[in-house]
Amino acid sequence: MNSFGTFLKFSTFGESHGKAIGVVIDNYPAGVRIDTDYINSLLKLRQGGGAFSTPRKEADEVNIISGVFNDISTGAPICVLVENNNTRSKDYKEHLRPAHADFTYYAKYEHFDYRGGGRSSARESVARVIAGAFADLILKEFNIRTYASICGVGGVSLDEFKFSEEEYKRALEKDFNALGDDLFKELFKDEITKAKNNNDSVGASVSVAAFGVMAGLGDGLYDKLDARIASAFMGLNAVKCVEIGAGRKLSSMNGSFANDEILGVSNDELMQNQNSSILKQSPNFKSFKVAKTNINKPLFLHTRHNFSGGIIGGISTGESIYIRAHFKPTPSIFKEQTMLNKDFSLIKDAIYGRHDPCVGVRGAVVLKAMLSFIIADFLMLNSSAKISNLKKIYKGE
Ligand SMILES: Cc1cc2nc3c(=O)[nH]c(=O)nc-3n(C[C@H](O)[C@H](O)[C@H](O)COP(=O)(O)O)c2cc1C
Repeated sequence: MNSFGTFLKFSTFGESHGKAIGVVIDNYPAGVRIDTDYINSLLKLRQGGGAFSTPRKEADEVNIISGVFNDISTGAPICVLVENNNTRSKDYKEHLRPAHADFTYYAKYEHFDYRGGGRSSARESVARVIAGAFADLILKEFNIRTYASICGVGGVSLDEFKFSEEEYKRALEKDFNALGDDLFKELFKDEITKAKNNNDSVGASVSVAAFGVMAGLGDGLYDKLDARIASAFMGLNAVKCVEIGAGRKLSSMNGSFANDEILGVSNDELMQNQNSSILKQSPNFKSFKVAKTNINKPLFLHTRHNFSGGIIGGISTGESIYIRAHFKPTPSIFKEQTMLNKDFSLIKDAIYGRHDPCVGVRGAVVLKAMLSFIIADFLMLNSSAKISNLKKIYKGE
């Protein structure tokens, strides 16, 4: 399976050391202004080259092959290519590395391109970032914003499950995209440096959020918004655990607290901003009530804590969406380990090449991209969810 999405779909192709990586996006609406600089800026967040990621700098730039004319989408399939011009295939022996997908790909396909991990390499995530950047250009029209930043590395982790939009923005402004104050950032960096200096790797957690998402996105039973997010995030290489909202903390709460007091509903996300939890706790907090006449406008629920992370019953509540994803440590490390040779004999060897000491650092933007794509897909699917939507489109009512 190389495709993702229900109505708005993308399919990816290419291997780590092949000629190029690419993506085809289908059912992308016509009339969207395509900002190539924005797409390249997201790809830049995925590039290595810094002290805390792979020394392999992938200076990727998009080459749009179809579906865009005079910088505006035409409704035709969008095809984008990115060349692989920084590969060193000689670094890869025909070893089946511990914790990498070499053995399982061999068991399934027998013949596969093992250079750089071939199709199992996270090089493919370039295509996901491009698809997500195109989705962002749709979301922009609805003032929906998505973010992802590191919130834990190795033994150091931030306890909160939600952060303000300002905090995500500030994290992106720095050379190292991490939440928390400067002390935490240094501690995160230290964990990576320690692992790197020890020829080792380290795991990480990433907080992903969406702001401005109105209530009503997602499908009740078999295509729940949280299920789709969990599946998409677990579908990214090295992600081993996904929490929605307060996540596993909910399992230690009582219902009286976990149920989260409802404070009101409004037609805008006013109270979702950075101060929302402080404001909501203040005695001056006014609850919101939507007038019946505004029921067809976007709705935003307001609860005391938003433990459910903006999703209940598989459908968005209108509160900010919060997810925490946990990445395992990079499989390829430069320490000697026991592994399989291509003839299945056991050997002791170290892995060479250019690898990330902590894959969560570059993985964050891929999760942001997947979340954007899912939200854009559900926005489009909702256009036929109720007759009033169809009337709006076809009768202008
Ligand atoms: C952005 C990103 C970069 C990665 N870079 C590397 C790498 O340099 N070396 C490596 O061994 N694994 C890397 N991985 C992880 C492997 O691709 C992944 O662990 C492997 O495919 C096995 O799949 P699994 O961990 O999901 O079971 C990276 C993952 C991501 C998301």
